[in-house]
Amino acid sequence: MDKNFYITTPIYYPSAKPHMGHAYSSIIADFFARFKSIDDFDVYFLTGTDEHGLKIQRSAEKAGKEPQEFCDEISKTFRDLSKTLNLSNTDFIRTTEERHKKTVQYLWSKLEKNDDIYLSNYSGWYSVSDEAFYNEDEIEEINGNKIAITSKSPVEWIEEESFFFRLSKWEKPLLEFYESNPDFISPVSRKNEVISFVKSGLKDLSVSRKTFSWGIPVPNKKDHIIYVWLDALTNYLSALNYPDTKNTLFNKFWPASIHLIGKDILRFHAVYWPAFLLAANVTLPKKVYGHGWILSGDEKMSKSKGNILDPLEIIEKYGLDSLRYYLIKEVSFGNDGNISQERLENCINSDLANNYGNLCQRVVAFTIKNCEGKIPSKIKFLEDDLKILNKYKKNLDNIRSKIDEQNINFYIDYIVSSLFEANKYFNDQEPWKKKNDQLRLNTIVYTTLEIVRKISFLIYPIIPETSLKALKIFNILEPNIKLETLSNNEYIQKGNIINKIDILFKKIEKNND
Ligand code: MSP
Repeated sequence: MDKNFYITTPIYYPSAKPHMGHAYSSIIADFFARFKSIDDFDVYFLTGTDEHGLKIQRSAEKAGKEPQEFCDEISKTFRDLSKTLNLSNTDFIRTTEERHKKTVQYLWSKLEKNDDIYLSNYSGWYSVSDEAFYNEDEIEEINGNKIAITSKSPVEWIEEESFFFRLSKWEKPLLEFYESNPDFISPVSRKNEVISFVKSGLKDLSVSRKTFSWGIPVPNKKDHIIYVWLDALTNYLSALNYPDTKNTLFNKFWPASIHLIGKDILRFHAVYWPAFLLAANVTLPKKVYGHGWILSGDEKMSKSKGNILDPLEIIEKYGLDSLRYYLIKEVSFGNDGNISQERLENCINSDLANNYGNLCQRVVAFTIKNCEGKIPSKIKFLEDDLKILNKYKKNLDNIRSKIDEQNINFYIDYIVSSLFEANKYFNDQEPWKKKNDQLRLNTIVYTTLEIVRKISFLIYPIIPETSLKALKIFNILEPNIKLETLSNNEYIQKGNIINKIDILFKKIEKNND
């Protein structure tokens, strides 16, 4: 079995500082990356910034800066955010880096050599905000302004000499590919959208611009700048040092296991990107997952709409893991989700403070008082204990396959119900009434501690920092978190001292005014 896992986020435009939508894509990708790493996969997790094109050039002009200086500054805020979000990314790529430029120009030459690129003239609608071309039927006029129907962003008319990619040639091979790789586009609802777009007929795609300079020049035709999406998508290859196919990174991690993106950029990833790769004779990625949007009211949260929630402010107020947990749980994965501070506070109080935090504190306090602060040595499991312990072993393969289907909702429901069950077990077993039966008391304590350990392993991909705090009870460190050990019901070392831990989550006092 292939135990390598390559996951990517979209690379973000450094046109303004990051917002909650960007944080969301990154946190979800981190969740999958961490899950796979505790399941013993070698993980390559890539994120970064998409720095070329007219959108960035204009943003830099507006800020009165040179594009490179402008990108350096804002790209840094994205890199800082990846640290603030505690992402486990292996790499952070910037499209202004030399390693990337080389790969893009190589890919271009390959497409040209295979006769997939030709010179002609383009005239049509272009949205700088989306960096996308639109057909007449994808445009509407509101108050005298032309806008793209799907994104609502303004479009402008452009006419210039341009290189074209023979996208039309790849219409049939793409449809055949979707047919024989039914999991390539997820979720299914989005797959249908893409297929009907391709079936409606693909026109050749303009892949160079002449009227601005901020980008990667076309090899041997320096007055043309490579279309920013052809440039940006190639980051997934340049991070692995493609075309140096002797290098281990490319051989080990390509094809990507999953490109995680927002649904707004599905067409680029599920149509253009595979077409470029087919034309260049490079294996296609295994999956493109288009997640939903974080909404503010009914609208997509975005800078141009001025309705952004700043992830840093939320983290400052509630802590990172509260935000991670909330986004992963409450935004049903694949769908759009509205976020509110009230729901976030409810989540912290009920799931994190009451359910998880309380379970950990209770069992630690009880062990200190009744078991000399040690993991009990003499134990004898009864049916009740084995029933709750064995559940984890029984569900392990199921959990793995749900994650391979990106069913995060299943995963989080599994954790929440396990927490309820664990608290209920401790209450129902009433160890405080077993002071005359030390063997039984010990066994209940051991079982509960073992469950705390198991749940802390499972919750690690969601709230890594808190999971590690909880695992300090047992002195378990990050490299020792292995999913496989969920099958072991006697993993925690009998006789070891347990450690007191700080409160994991403070309850938020609700103001009911
Ligand atoms: N630079 C391109 C991507 C190139 S990938 C080869 C781009 N950048 S972006 O900064 O505009 O947005 C990137 C991604 O951020 C979106 O696809 C999506 O994953 C995420 N989000 C941006 N706004 C969002 C929401 N309001 N909600 C959820 N995610 C959103 O497009």
